Amino acid sequence: MHKPEKPVLSLLTKGVSDNIPLWLMRQAGRYLPEYQEIRKQANGFIDFCLTPSLAAEATLQPLRRFDVDAAILFADILLVPFALGAKVSFLEGEGPRLDPMEDEKKVEELFYTQETIAPVFETLRRVKPQLKDYQTLIGFCGGVWTVACYMIDGQGRQDFVKAKEAAFHQPAFLKALMKKIEEASLAYLLGQIDAGAEVIQIFESHAGQLEGQAFDDFIIQPTQRLVEGIRKQHPNFPIIGFPRGASLDDYKKYFHQTGISGCGLDQNVSLEEAKEQLLPLGCLQGNLDPTLLLEGGAAMERQAKKILGALGSNLIFNLGHGVMKETNPDHMARLVSLVHGFQKGAEA
Ligand code: CP3
Repeated sequence: MHKPEKPVLSLLTKGVSDNIPLWLMRQAGRYLPEYQEIRKQANGFIDFCLTPSLAAEATLQPLRRFDVDAAILFADILLVPFALGAKVSFLEGEGPRLDPMEDEKKVEELFYTQETIAPVFETLRRVKPQLKDYQTLIGFCGGVWTVACYMIDGQGRQDFVKAKEAAFHQPAFLKALMKKIEEASLAYLLGQIDAGAEVIQIFESHAGQLEGQAFDDFIIQPTQRLVEGIRKQHPNFPIIGFPRGASLDDYKKYFHQTGISGCGLDQNVSLEEAKEQLLPLGCLQGNLDPTLLLEGGAAMERQAKKILGALGSNLIFNLGHGVMKETNPDHMARLVSLVHGFQKGAEA
């Protein structure tokens, strides 16, 4: 099958591609037995991310199994707080834990040292020459608000109540913290680009926590500044934004106002609304429910075809959130061949 140079890159920069490309969020990780194997070789998850030989291998593992169109750097959004000097740990089966930030005094103590996370750049340099000519190398960071959520609440939560309280009652504290995260994230992303990242994705996983003015202040504006900061040095650099959980109106504003090149959709965005209201703004990425990938079979295939039929004119096929750790890799292989076999213009 003929493939253009790099379909992911081509869609984001030129808006055209012969094929509908795909990659999957969390395509590396615990659902792969070979990941579990190398994970044991590190002293904890941060050490794993900061050991280029292991992180490069984890990045490449899914590409050995599946014909995906992009590699995503193996790292984590919480490496930025780590490089700012926050204590970050990952408890087995429980997710991340950070010492919660409480006030501006704590914020003043944060100091970003790029050397701390420089091994990530080495990971990118090792991965790049191993990609096929049509595969795009994606770097990433967390959205500034999402990283602040973890730093203030100290762990993943349903509602990030302390971070939201800060948004409404301690805006000076939240803004000071977010400024540090934003500056660090920009330096980190520029480092990734220098090391070979061809596209950047900003994971605003907890965008759905805010709406109205707070969505503008704490999500749109910092994202806009990150995008500008990157483009000041790399004009037109392709950037995917992923404001997971945002309302349709906020998705529209986010896509329109931040300057991103493509917008990631979670599985709750309806295909009809995405087609009518978001596709005219540019390239979309998403949005198969990871639970359908877990389930596999006819239900997964039906929904994948619906997505391809509705958005295929300007789509990077992906999930609406990351691959779940219980997922059978065979389901993923089936999905990849379905997407690659889909002809543009076919009926859903
Ligand atoms: O394949 C890839 O997508 C690349 C690597 C990647 C990881 N995390 C590896 C990881 C990426 C892009 C991320 C992003 C990330 N990390 C996000 C944004 C996307 C999302 O899921 O919303 C967030 C919120 C985090 C923070 C984080 N890291 C959490 C909440 C957890 C625990 C939950 C979980 O799935 O374990 C992590 C740990 C983590 N990050 C693992 C992996 C492979 C599991 C670590 C392990 O091996 O035990």
